Amino acid sequence: MLLGYLLGSIPFGVLLTRAFGAGDLRQIGSGNIGATNVLRTGRKGLAAATLLLDLGKGAAAVLLARWWLPGAELYAAAAVMVGHCYPAWLRFRGGKGVATLMGVALALHWPLGAVFAALWLGLLALLRISSLAGMAAAISTPVTAAVLGEFDLVPLLMGLAALVLWKHRANIARLVDGTEPRVGRSAAPAA
Ligand code: G3P
Repeated sequence: MLLGYLLGSIPFGVLLTRAFGAGDLRQIGSGNIGATNVLRTGRKGLAAATLLLDLGKGAAAVLLARWWLPGAELYAAAAVMVGHCYPAWLRFRGGKGVATLMGVALALHWPLGAVFAALWLGLLALLRISSLAGMAAAISTPVTAAVLGEFDLVPLLMGLAALVLWKHRANIARLVDGTEPRVGRSAAPAA
């Protein structure tokens, strides 16, 4: 679990934007450390890399646990999500967990991840609101697991979806106000 936490706590968005001179991500847009906010720097390549690396660390934690300590996948999944959302290095102010949950879902049971990715991409293309697409995809995971008969995954996925919703509470307030920015538009207020 410690290794999962440490892997999850690597803030790829912050590291990449700093390394490539795109500024301090926590002072830009929503202040979030995820790919959506990296996109607000105008650096599409860095945003894509952040998405893939945040997804990759979620998948890697589960796959490493499966290989190393069979039976520990669910603990690794929880730990990598907590590491991403609450990294010690950033005073526990981390990301919102969408990309990392996608990686976790793909590694736990790939059809779950496929449904997550299809929903997220489909809603993003349709609505162009990243937070709404991410929250809907997160909520879908326990439902999809139940439909697929993967009942042992349902409690964990309910917890992880709740974590993603909790981390999006400022986005939810903006969605209710009608002030949540669409992807490709100007930045959200810091939150
Ligand atoms: O994955 C993060 C996304 O759902 C919201 O990001 O920067 O718009 O708060 P942001």
